[in-house]
Amino acid sequence: MNPVADKLKRPLRDLRISVTDQCNFRCSYCMPREIFGPEYAFLPKEVLLSNEEIVFAAKSFVELGVQKLRLTGGEPLLRPDLCDLISSLSTETGVQDISLTTNASLLPRYAQKLKDAGLRRINISLDSLDHDRFAQMSGGRSSPDAVIRGIDAAEKAGLKIKVNMVAKLGVNEVDVLPMIEYFRERRITLRFIEFMDVGETNGWKMDQVVPAKQILETIGSKYDFEPVDPSYRGEVASRYRFKDARSEFGIITSITNPFCGDCNRARISAEGKLYTCLFATAGTDLKKQIRSGISQEDFTSYVSKLWITRDDQHSEDRSKGRPLKNDKKVEMSYIGG
Ligand code: GTP
Ligand code: 5AD
Ligand code: SF4
Ligand code: SF4
Repeated sequence: MNPVADKLKRPLRDLRISVTDQCNFRCSYCMPREIFGPEYAFLPKEVLLSNEEIVFAAKSFVELGVQKLRLTGGEPLLRPDLCDLISSLSTETGVQDISLTTNASLLPRYAQKLKDAGLRRINISLDSLDHDRFAQMSGGRSSPDAVIRGIDAAEKAGLKIKVNMVAKLGVNEVDVLPMIEYFRERRITLRFIEFMDVGETNGWKMDQVVPAKQILETIGSKYDFEPVDPSYRGEVASRYRFKDARSEFGIITSITNPFCGDCNRARISAEGKLYTCLFATAGTDLKKQIRSGISQEDFTSYVSKLWITRDDQHSEDRSKGRPLKNDKKVEMSYIGG
């Protein structure tokens, strides 16, 4: 291994790989249906990285320090050869921690296959247990029952599960306690995510964010809990443990308490561009390098050079009132969160 650090001395530990920009949901905070309608031009199949190309890229990132691979989308389960990809990543990169972020709708069909392919754990998005508010958040697609069936299937297959809930003020903040009650009982870690200013289409406004402080107060009105140390440096969620139950919850405070100082994540889009921040305005075309027939060693050194010049800290800049870039930010569904 040949670990690298960026300009702010942050190592490269976590690689998020988007495997498709398409999704069968239309969450208002990610792919609002007014924008992502029937006319929307998704990436054509031929521009997507193939499984072999993803594995080639991942190997170089692992050489530079990556210990965790997360497959994202859009909705990654819409990619037909996803299980083959997981199986190749698992055998060819040697990475133990391979995980997936999904909306769970297709898990009843795929959970066991994913486990058999080498997937260890899975993060599932669910914003409400109430049918109407779920529909409002997910753009009218699917239902909380379908997501719960996906969670059941993942549990049955032996995958370690976390649930992500995006909280939007005036829409689903009333779901904080019902969601906590439900997942506390099931001993599944629920993580609340502050609605973030990703991309250009979700109409983000500060007054739609449910701040972590409010979430903690709401949970504290019913349960006693205490903070838990992060499981590794740079963990995205702040963790908490219930004092009277063997379960945890977490909060991802990108808005009210940014965590850029420890950010060790790189992202590859489905068409093979490298982004060094979730809020980036431009990426670097890795696919061009890969398709030029570059050797593994030269590709590793190419990526290394990109990482050592990195100085991104968008959320920190926003919270400190520093000027932000004017160019358009990439969309969440394109970069995979
Ligand atoms: P674990 O490995 O289980 O800790 O997963 P994770 O939290 O890293 O991944 P997941 O896909 O579940 O992401 C949860 C939320 O955190 C999503 O809304 C992501 O967009 C957000 N997130 C992940 N990494 C970053 C980051 O580097 N910066 C910001 N601002 N948000 C991030
Ligand atoms: N703000 C916060 N979280 C978001 N997600 C998607 N868009 C946003 C946003 N604008 C979440 C999804 C999923 C994870 C990858 O990111 O709900 O759980
Ligand atoms: Fe699809 Fe996930 Fe975006 Fe919702 S948040 S539209 S499920 S990619
Ligand atoms: Fe990392 Fe960018 Fe998120 Fe900061 S805003 S934690 S630099 S991805």
